[in-house]
Amino acid sequence: MYKNLKNTDVFKKRVLVRVDLNIPIGDNLKIDKSEIWRLEAIIPTLKYLIKQKSKIILISHLGRPKEKKLSLKSVCNSLSKLLRKKISFSETLNVKKTIELMNFGDILLLENIRFDSREEKNSDSLAKELADLADIFVNEAFSVSHREHASIVGIPKYLDSCIGFLFEKEIDELNKVLKNFKRPLVAIIGGNKISTKIKVINKFLNISDKVLIGGALANTIFYSQGVDMSDSLVEKIDFNIDLDNKKLFLPQDFGIWDNNVVKYSDKVQGKALDIGPKSIDLFCSAIKSAKTIVWNGPLGLYTQKPFDKSSLEITKAIIKSKAYSVVGGGDTVEFLRKIKKDKKFNHISTGGGAMLNYLANERLAGLDAL
Ligand code: ADP
Ligand code: 3PG
Ligand code: MG
Repeated sequence: MYKNLKNTDVFKKRVLVRVDLNIPIGDNLKIDKSEIWRLEAIIPTLKYLIKQKSKIILISHLGRPKEKKLSLKSVCNSLSKLLRKKISFSETLNVKKTIELMNFGDILLLENIRFDSREEKNSDSLAKELADLADIFVNEAFSVSHREHASIVGIPKYLDSCIGFLFEKEIDELNKVLKNFKRPLVAIIGGNKISTKIKVINKFLNISDKVLIGGALANTIFYSQGVDMSDSLVEKIDFNIDLDNKKLFLPQDFGIWDNNVVKYSDKVQGKALDIGPKSIDLFCSAIKSAKTIVWNGPLGLYTQKPFDKSSLEITKAIIKSKAYSVVGGGDTVEFLRKIKKDKKFNHISTGGGAMLNYLANERLAGLDAL
């Protein structure tokens, strides 16, 4: 078993905590109240460390800097408000002196670790530099722990390490599902983080009774088959999925945005931004007979009406089915919170890709590293 926080001596120690503060940030850098659930989820660990008089050094990423260079500064303010405690912020990793001067129980947040190109390359030099700041490492970032990045798998090579309370809870909940779930097990996978998710589809085809695919993930599968997806979001990647597998359910039609008009059709001209009514019916009838449901990834561009339609209908169907339901992912949970249905699920996971990877492989790179 992994070492957990309760069994680790953190009293008056310098504790480096990898958290996931990756929450949606609008262009005006405003953070909506519905979007801070990933921050709420790490509060118990932070409060515990404050009580233990640790010097707390937080590391996180925010977004994908190749797409948009987002600073963690505004998230720092939100977290500080939520915790009702000052959190210092540093733009550089040159903080040895700062940490020396910190009082016990103080918190320091480092700038978006993905601004440092060594993070995603899993560089040993970055891992050493970070490990050098502390006595103990706590991985509280379940939702990024499928990534082989320096702050996830590198630091534990150089520091005594454990998992935090949230990480432990996530693993406990998912283990419950893995050990004694009732069949039929239906997996619903959507969203746009295609390369991460497509790799686990074959695993889900093995363990589940039905696998329903929507979102840009489905667009990509059709595109790989030579189907004309017009201007839809697709990823040009190589993968190998048995599309004749009877357990696999792909959309039969789409909600399409074409020349400023919404259309529903099985042929795409413009952008397929949602699955269509026939597909919703097909997916809902699969959900109706399920005893266990695992869902990650909105089935359409839920932030733009009416392309939230399928995700709304799927939500209703899951709640109605009375199946044991596990749902995860930054955007998926955000969607459920906005429509106030998040409490209706048995387990809400902070992880999307991480949850799918753990359920499919029963392991995570970040756990293996501990
Ligand atoms: P999660 O965070 O729940 O794991 P992802 O990050 O993989 O989910 O995907 C969510 C994103 O995918 C959202 O921004 C959503 O609007 C977008 N999305 C879903 N379907 C489509 C589609 N057909 N076209 C474009 N974007 C889509
Ligand atoms: C997430 O939101 O799923 C995690 O923060 C991981 O983000 P990533 O897919 O950019 O690694
Ligand atoms: Mg997301």
